[in-house]
Amino acid sequence: MSPSLIYHVTSSLDGYIARPDGHIDWFASLRQADEEYSFQYFYSGIDALLMGRGTYEALLKRGGAWPYPGKPCVVLTRLPLPRASDEVQLTHCTPAQAVAALGEAGFQRVWLVGGSLLAGSCYTAGLIDEVVINLVPHLLGAGIPLLATGMERSLTLSDQRRFNSGTLQVHYKVQNPASQQPPSRINAA
Ligand SMILES: NC(=O)c1ccc[n+]([C@@H]2O[C@H](COP(=O)([O-])OP(=O)(O)OC[C@H]3O[C@@H](n4cnc5c(N)ncnc54)[C@H](OP(=O)(O)O)[C@@H]3O)[C@@H](O)[C@H]2O)c1
Repeated sequence: MSPSLIYHVTSSLDGYIARPDGHIDWFASLRQADEEYSFQYFYSGIDALLMGRGTYEALLKRGGAWPYPGKPCVVLTRLPLPRASDEVQLTHCTPAQAVAALGEAGFQRVWLVGGSLLAGSCYTAGLIDEVVINLVPHLLGAGIPLLATGMERSLTLSDQRRFNSGTLQVHYKVQNPASQQPPSRINAA
């Protein structure tokens, strides 16, 4: 069975996930205990991670311990990059193939960490099932957008919460055409 792919991401109010140079300092320092608790709850409910090379390299550049222990992490890239942990698997395939392989391995909830390029590809391929955005009360004016590529689609709000920092979390379900029920037929007698 195909796993649920959840794009859980932090965004500025004007829709950017990082500064133009990739820095995320504008929200990293804002995070308070309630938001951290919420993230840990989310993290405990996912089985595996999927991320793009840009995000992986940003994490490598930051240094320190691998921030996502205890879960397999598939990084999509054509480059022979170093593995930050035994749980990291660097692979070159389409996002659909990566999601299918995770499903075959028995994983049911996969966190699409980002970034913008990979999330855009996953979205246009109809792979994203849920979007969880932590909307930070900060306007960047420019940066790396939430989705590098997109198309029009309505979402269904499934949850919302407010953190002490003023960050709002909105949780949406995506109605992908493939997951929609076919119209019921009425048999003529
Ligand atoms: N605010 C947040 O919550 C948040 C979350 C995640 C990331 N970020 C930030 O976002 C930035 C990185 O985002 P990004 O958009 O530049 O890069 P990205 O989406 O993380 O990575 C893009 C790279 O992934 C590889 N890739 C493989 N298959 C792909 C496909 N089908 N579609 C797209 N990419 C594919 C390509 O690398 P190869 O050329 O090696 O194949 C591509 O250049 C970083 O600054 C990071 O800190 C912020």
